[in-house]
Amino acid sequence: MESNVPTREEALALLKQYTRSEALINHAKAVEGVMRYMARKFGENEEKWGVIGLVHDLDYEQFPEKHCIKVREILDENGLPEDYIRAVVSHGWGICSDVKPESLLEKTLFAIDQFVLRGGRAVVCVDPYCVSDRPNPMERQMGKVHCRKVQLL
Ligand SMILES: [Fe+2]
Ligand SMILES: [Fe+2]
Repeated sequence: MESNVPTREEALALLKQYTRSEALINHAKAVEGVMRYMARKFGENEEKWGVIGLVHDLDYEQFPEKHCIKVREILDENGLPEDYIRAVVSHGWGICSDVKPESLLEKTLFAIDQFVLRGGRAVVCVDPYCVSDRPNPMERQMGKVHCRKVQLL
């Protein structure tokens, strides 16, 4: 099938086609909102990250036993591109999916859904040499370590 990048409205309509629970729809919108925020921070495609966040649990209500499996079929039928589908499927890695999050988008979705929105806190270090969110003062003075603590509100 030819791929078709959905608009936010189309993605929301697709989500609602498979989901009645207001709590699940609100969860999807919360993940969408954080994904958009993170995409902006990383200079990535905000629409794409948002749509993926919105549809990530699309199969959960109707196919709880096939969560992260049935969604591939549904999104494929609706023509979503493979990288959208792979990202969605990888959010259940180690739980209901064996697709490991690899890209920045996939790792962000996994972290947000599995950890941050369940009350966890994330510290994101953007410097590859950084090993702590509290660098020692000498290193900071020398400009060797630059970390940012990201708060999601
Ligand atoms: Fe899920
Ligand atoms: Fe979720």
